[in-house]
Amino acid sequence: MEQLLAGKVAIVTGGANGLGKAAVERFAAEGARVVIADMDCERGEALAAQLGGAARFLATNVAEADQVQALIDFAVSEFDGLDVMFNNAGVSQAIFPRFVDDDLSDFQKVINVNLLGVMLGTQRAARHMKDHGGGSIINAASIGGSQAGCGILTYRASKAAVIHFTKCTAIDLAEYGIRVNCISPGNIETEMSAFPGKGMSDEMIRKIHEVVRPLRLAAQPLKRWGKPLDIANAALYLASDMSAQITGQELVVDGGASTGDPINRFIEVAQARARIIQEISS
Ligand SMILES: NC(=O)c1ccc[n+]([C@@H]2O[C@H](COP(=O)([O-])OP(=O)(O)OC[C@H]3O[C@@H](n4cnc5c(N)ncnc54)[C@H](O)[C@@H]3O)[C@@H](O)[C@H]2O)c1
Repeated sequence: MEQLLAGKVAIVTGGANGLGKAAVERFAAEGARVVIADMDCERGEALAAQLGGAARFLATNVAEADQVQALIDFAVSEFDGLDVMFNNAGVSQAIFPRFVDDDLSDFQKVINVNLLGVMLGTQRAARHMKDHGGGSIINAASIGGSQAGCGILTYRASKAAVIHFTKCTAIDLAEYGIRVNCISPGNIETEMSAFPGKGMSDEMIRKIHEVVRPLRLAAQPLKRWGKPLDIANAALYLASDMSAQITGQELVVDGGASTGDPINRFIEVAQARARIIQEISS
């Protein structure tokens, strides 16, 4: 069977871990040559070595314009082109303190990585793609970007901006044959979704996931826990020509979590109502 990304060259930022790593592996399995861009050199290099000739690693901070330009140049010189840019790298922030007590010390970092990083990756990739037949740009957003909620407010705001930026650049870059879409994951079990703090061990992260999983599933219509591969499959679709007519879209991959209250809550309310009516009328 024909591979979906045969002959294509892709960059995945934040590709050393989590959702980015799954996308790197999926893209390579579908015939792409992939540049892994990350600040985690140990894991990035190990992944590139595992994939052999299909992958390269470049230490990159996506919030630095010169490093992003060097990344694009590296992909073009190593693999002779660039067809897919997955701006996946992102950072979250501490859940506590609540907003009124937050000194906003992590504001700049979250915005620099999550928004400026996406803007730089898009701009520098587009400068190459516009003269080379177009391409596909995919940005990592989040359901937190469209779903309001308490906590991690800078993170939510950064992802809201990514969704809007995606739509605007889809229009701006369409004349060059460049498609721009974003993916909004819901709850996917990675290090980030355990909100790791300094000095947290793997065991702590695993235990946090164990406790948090049922809480999150209660608010999700599909009682299936999302996997990094779910996001990698969405990215593969947007990267490939299967989505040739799709641009400016937010592809939500969240088991229905952002769709609305799961039906079982409504049933609980209806059952409570029926109980009260029965008690009072008997
Ligand atoms: N996991 C989820 O449930 C979830 C939900 C919604 C959105 N997302 C988004 O998906 C993306 C990937 O998340 P993840 O869960 O895989 O996170 P992760 O923490 O597991 O991996 C993020 C990767 O990005 C890299 N990175 C961080 N800052 C960087 C920088 N300045 N330059 C280059 N690389 C950098 C890290 O080293 C790491 O390898 C993020 O943008 C995140 O906001 C994740």
